[in-house]
Amino acid sequence: MKLDIVVLPGDGIGPEVIAEALRVLEVVTRRFGHPLQAKEYPFGTGAAARSGRAFPDETRKACLETRAVLLGAVGDPSFDNLPPSERPEAALLELRKLLGNFANLRPIVAQFNPPHSPFRDEALAGIDLLIVRELTGGIYFGEPRGREDSGKDSRAWNTMVYTSAEVERVARVAFEASLERQAHVTSVDKSNVLVTSKMWRDVVESVGKDYPKVKLDHMYVDRAAMEIISNPRQFDVMVTANLFGDILSDEASVLAGSLGLLPSASIGGTVGIYEPVHGSAPDIAGKGIANPVAQIWTGAMMLEHLGHADAAKAVVGAIEKVVEEGKTVTRDLGGKASTTEAADAIAALL
Ligand code: NAD
Ligand code: IPM
Ligand code: MN
Repeated sequence: MKLDIVVLPGDGIGPEVIAEALRVLEVVTRRFGHPLQAKEYPFGTGAAARSGRAFPDETRKACLETRAVLLGAVGDPSFDNLPPSERPEAALLELRKLLGNFANLRPIVAQFNPPHSPFRDEALAGIDLLIVRELTGGIYFGEPRGREDSGKDSRAWNTMVYTSAEVERVARVAFEASLERQAHVTSVDKSNVLVTSKMWRDVVESVGKDYPKVKLDHMYVDRAAMEIISNPRQFDVMVTANLFGDILSDEASVLAGSLGLLPSASIGGTVGIYEPVHGSAPDIAGKGIANPVAQIWTGAMMLEHLGHADAAKAVVGAIEKVVEEGKTVTRDLGGKASTTEAADAIAALL
C-alpha cells in the first residue's frame, strides 16, 4: 500500500527541512513496505508572490482529498507590514479550520542539553510533557475583529470566544492522551480575569468526571509560564486555549533544547496536518544550518497517526540516538552539522 500525502514546504527554512524529512521518510516507509507518495503544492509566500494567493485552489483541493498534510512553515518578513488577514500565516489558519483540526499535539521531551542551555542537566532529567493546544477557536478566530485608524483615536479589537462544545472536544483529546501517559491533566487558563476562561475551566472540570482515573488540576496561565521553567516535571498533559498554547509551547522548547526539535500533529478532522512548532526562521534561511529534527519528528507523528507505529518508532529512535550522541547536530544544539548532515545521520540508522 502506498502512502499518499500532500506536502506544503512553504517559506524560509520550510523547504530546507521538508526536503530532509522526505528523504528520511522515504527510507523508512520503503523499509516498512508502505512507500511514500509525496506530492508538493504551493502554499505561503511563494504561492502568494506567484498567484496572488497564499492558499491556491489546487492546494486546497489536494489537501481535502489526501490522507495527511505535511507542512514546513510559512511566513516572510516582506509581508510584515500587511494586516494579519493578508499575510501568508492566514493561509495556515484557514487550512487548520478547513480540515477541522481542533487539537494540536505538541510533545516536549528533554533529551539533550545544549552547551548554551540556561538549565543544569539535573534540572531536565525526566521531563516529558504534552501540550494539547486548542487550534481552531479562541482569539485567533473570534468575531468581531477589526481596526479603525483615525489618528490618536485609532482602535483595534479581537474577540476571544469559545463554545462549550469546542472546549469539551479538545479536553477529551487531552484526557484520552493522558490515559496513555501518566494520567494527569493540567488545564491552563486565565479564569481569574476572562469569562471565556471561566467557562473553559467549568467545562474541563465536567469532562474530567468522565475520567475518574485521571488527576485533573487547573493553573492560571501566568503561573504556568513560570512553573514550566521552575518545576516542569510536575506536568504530564497540559490542555489550553489557542493563544496560550502557542506561547507556552515555544517557551517549553527551551526544555527540549531547541525550537528546532519540536514536532506537532494537528488532528480532529479527517485529514491531519503535521507541522513543526517552529516557523520559517528567516534569520537562518538559505544557510543550510536549520535543524531538520523537528520536521523529521513531525513526519514520524504523521506515520503514527496513519497507523504505522513501527515506522514512526524507528524514526524517533534514530532521532534520539543522533541527538543524544550530539556528534552530528546543528548549531542550535551546539554542533557543527549542516541540515543535510544532521538528516543523513538519522537516515543512516534507518
Ligand atoms: P521562528 O520559529 O521562525 O524562529 C524563532 C527562532 O528559532 C529563530 O531564531 C530561528 O532561527 C530559530 N529556529 C526556528 N526553527 C529552527 C530550526 N529548525 N533550526 C534552528 N533554529 C530554528 O519564529 P519567528 O522568527 O518569530 O517567526 C518567523 C516567521 O515564521 C514569521 O513570519 C512567523 O509568523 C512564522 N511562523 C510560522 C509558523 C508555521 O508556519 N507553523 C510557526 C511559527 C512562526
Ligand atoms: C504556530 C505558529 C502559528 C500560530 C502562526 C504562524 C499562525 O506560531 O503554529 O505555533 O500562531 O498558530
Ligand atoms: Mn507559534
